[in-house]
Amino acid sequence: MERTLVLLKPDAVQRDLVGEIISRLERKGLKIVGLKLMSLSTELLDEHYSHLVGRPFYPEVRSFMQRTPVVALCLEGVECVDAVRQLAGITKSREAAPGTIRGEFAMSVQANLIHCSDSLETALVEVPRFFKSEELFEYEDVLGGYLY
Ligand code: PPS
Repeated sequence: MERTLVLLKPDAVQRDLVGEIISRLERKGLKIVGLKLMSLSTELLDEHYSHLVGRPFYPEVRSFMQRTPVVALCLEGVECVDAVRQLAGITKSREAAPGTIRGEFAMSVQANLIHCSDSLETALVEVPRFFKSEELFEYEDVLGGYLY
């Protein structure tokens, strides 16, 4: 069973798309095991985007991500890392496939609404970066409604 990190970025918060995006993730059968609103410190962002820190566009990414709190989710399901990436669509929003979250709603490479872990290896690092163990929950799938 995999877990993955999702951040709903400030453009999702400001455009009132949080419910729409969470609803799409839920309807796919992804199990929410962690969920919170959080402000991202410069330190946390520099760690999270360490591969981008030297890039010319990074200062803008950082200030964009600090415009509002973000919604952090930890989702669980069989092969959920890939499932969330498929639902999100590609980073370059203008080219994201219709039907995906970015393809339907996102406006630019930066204002692309959602961050999701790009691999299982990344997810294993990103989930604990954003969630303490006591903020993650295990509960039964009584109705069989989750991705399997
Ligand atoms: S890479 O090295 O460009 O492939 O990096 P990637 O892991 O895809 O992460 C890109 C993240 O940076 C945000 N961003 C931009 N990327 C490229 N070009 C520009 N101008 C840019 N502006 C912002 C982009 O939204 C990706 O954020 P995440 O949170 O990973 O989706």
